[in-house]
Amino acid sequence: MSADTPLQKEPESSQNPPVDGSELIRFDKVTKRFGSNVVLDNLDFSVDSGKHVTLIGPSGSGKTTILRLLMTLLKADEGTIKVNGDYLTHEEKNGKLVPAGEKHIREVRKNIGMVFQQFNLFPNMKVLRNLTEAPVTVLGMSKEAAEERARDLLELVGLTEHIDKYPTQLSGGQQQRVAIARALAMRPKVLLLDEVTSALDPELVAGVLDVLRDIARTTDITMLCVTHEMNFARDISDAVLMFDKGRVLESGPPEKIFGDPEHDRTREFLSAVL
Ligand SMILES: Nc1ncnc2c1ncn2[C@@H]1O[C@H](COP(=O)(O)OP(=O)(O)O)[C@@H](O)[C@H]1O
Ligand SMILES: [Mg+2]
Repeated sequence: MSADTPLQKEPESSQNPPVDGSELIRFDKVTKRFGSNVVLDNLDFSVDSGKHVTLIGPSGSGKTTILRLLMTLLKADEGTIKVNGDYLTHEEKNGKLVPAGEKHIREVRKNIGMVFQQFNLFPNMKVLRNLTEAPVTVLGMSKEAAEERARDLLELVGLTEHIDKYPTQLSGGQQQRVAIARALAMRPKVLLLDEVTSALDPELVAGVLDVLRDIARTTDITMLCVTHEMNFARDISDAVLMFDKGRVLESGPPEKIFGDPEHDRTREFLSAVL
């Protein structure tokens, strides 16, 4: 694969250019409860534009909830989330923060692409149309332009020869690579990845991680990644955030978190997963 990927060739959208090194994601005192279960507890964290940040931590610590809030599949009970400088679910009106309308939320969410554990491809559409459907219907791209971009992305994920297949004709690893390409087809500024290899047969994991390593290395997309693949996390991450009980227990560069963590809780977790 050439280093000159289709993602790098594209100029940034003129509407919302990120300032270099600026915060692309900012959680400010975000609390999320399910009934009496406080899943995110007054959570503050940020991800800078172009960085690769990995969330690690025990099951149930709130990692998926963070990604679902960003996708607006869930709503925070308290606090605010900013994406690319805009409030995600709030709008400023007359100097006050009010709940945002659907149109505002849709616009801000265009910055975000997500890949899930279960690939969630459109089963009734061939691979090519899985990649072109949303760019055409949501972004208003021409079919030709969407197909050209889809072909570039399928090359990036190594699936050019499968362009005319249906998802069920592909292995799990191939389906997940289609799902990654489909997310990128919307030109998000940030890619959210939630344990994207957890549902795969072991021999298919490496192929998907290699594709993600390539994307991390050759594009300038921001990544927020939940994974139990610690070698992968060590390779791609600028920062690792260790979660416990809805809070960031500690964070730092991968060498620090994996090599010399501050907390016993982090040590215990790492020795259980490594
Ligand atoms: N839709 C929901 N309804 C009730 N509780 C939920 C829901 N989604 C998640 N939870 C609870 O929130 C907590 C955090 O879940 P999650 O964010 O999925 O954790 P992680 O991804 O770190 O494993 C868990 O206790 C889980 O049971
Ligand atoms: Mg999860």
